[in-house]
Amino acid sequence: MSSVLSVRDFKSAENLIYFLDGAKTMVERAKKRGYPPPTRGKALIQMKEASSRTGGSFEEAAAKIGLRTREIQGKDHTSLRKGESPYDDIITHANQEMDVYVTRTKVEGESRYLAEILQENGHKVPVINGGDGEHDHVTQMLLDWYTIRQKMGRIDNFTIGFCGDLTFGRTVHSNVQAVKLLTNVKVVLCSFGGLKLPEHLKKDLNIVDEVDGDLSPLCKCDVIYATRIQKERIILPIDFSLIEKSYVINRDFLDRCKKNVLLMHPQPVVFEIGADIRNDSRLIMDEQAWNGLPMRMFILDNAIKNYQPLDLEIASEDLEEDKRTIRAEEAKKRGKYFNPVEKGTVIDHLKAGSAHYIETLLGQLGVDISQPILTAKNMPSDTCSSGEKDVILLHDQCIKGKAAGVLRLISPGVTINILEGDGLMHKLKFRPPHNIKGVFKCPNPMCITNIDRYAKSWFEIQDGDILCHYDERTFNISNLRS
Ligand code: NCD
Repeated sequence: MSSVLSVRDFKSAENLIYFLDGAKTMVERAKKRGYPPPTRGKALIQMKEASSRTGGSFEEAAAKIGLRTREIQGKDHTSLRKGESPYDDIITHANQEMDVYVTRTKVEGESRYLAEILQENGHKVPVINGGDGEHDHVTQMLLDWYTIRQKMGRIDNFTIGFCGDLTFGRTVHSNVQAVKLLTNVKVVLCSFGGLKLPEHLKKDLNIVDEVDGDLSPLCKCDVIYATRIQKERIILPIDFSLIEKSYVINRDFLDRCKKNVLLMHPQPVVFEIGADIRNDSRLIMDEQAWNGLPMRMFILDNAIKNYQPLDLEIASEDLEEDKRTIRAEEAKKRGKYFNPVEKGTVIDHLKAGSAHYIETLLGQLGVDISQPILTAKNMPSDTCSSGEKDVILLHDQCIKGKAAGVLRLISPGVTINILEGDGLMHKLKFRPPHNIKGVFKCPNPMCITNIDRYAKSWFEIQDGDILCHYDERTFNISNLRS
């Protein structure tokens, strides 16, 4: 792995340990004052969202490993402010010479998208995600686990408690994903203001306690990971002043915790760490922040040395599951809606009530919607569980492959009947595809596919889950619209 885009790319604890070990090799160079001559190329560090620690440590890290740096803070100093798309922006930077690109943005999935754009345009530039909206903060996760291992000597068999805003805090989202790679790490979740961890992130997590508005379950934890409320991302009407008083970790509380507890915080701290423990040895947030330097030196060094393209090939899939051929005459006897079709497709056994939506989707699925489309709604059906079905008839068009697979996903009982005008009718069933590109819109308005004018949506279908390839949120098929 050379680009570091999201925790989902880490497939095992070994992947994680590779970075923890690598960062350790950088410590002496990180401590040494001064910089080597910048002979290894150029790092562009573009912090479109506010940043002190991440941007600063990337800049320092790049200089310490011999990269020339250009840091752009905020959108104000680029044409993005004029409404330029991230696509056009990144291509311009790549053409001005760029050997590694670090980005922070409020747009989810943007770093992955830009890594793909660079690759597709022939630029061998690794991309590092320095935080994208509420989605992921993968380099923070790496330095956090580096710090835990440095302090405890291990990254397994303990309990970690996350507290604060677990809905919008990307550092927590990245860290719980990492926990899933490790052995016997139990999790305690203490949210405030109802800002709980999203359900899709809880899957496969060993949660031993989950509360809202209460710090006390943290007393049994070996590590406490406190976070601020992400006010800038919250659009819900929440009285922040009430929350702010309810979870201050102060000396009194810390004394009730485990004796050797590690209190971590990604910073910035707003109110959640009491002023009375700023210099307490149990609070290790300054060490965490410093560890960002060797970790980011290694991330950049590895990215430059070991460039690897992303795997963007989507293997073509054989989606046909079942095929039966009968005489068209016979079919017409049984279903009167077959009669108007000599040549074309009868999309049968659609969930009753779904036809209207599917009609609007057909164009996106490559069907020529200028041709007549007939729809029969709420027809009696012996095989559909509701006793009713919708049917769509397409003249002179045979739909197969991916389009048919997508229909299967929307309406699992669907049968595709193809009439080729030869007196035969082929009754087909298709499996849902593993990837769907450019058909549905991602329901998350902050997903890059809804922000960049050139971007196409991309959903991955895994074990029945429909996952956006960019913001990595899972959706129900009924919530997807074209
Ligand atoms: C965090 C971030 O930006 O997500 N800070 C950081 O990078 N160290 C945490 C936060 O903003 O609350």
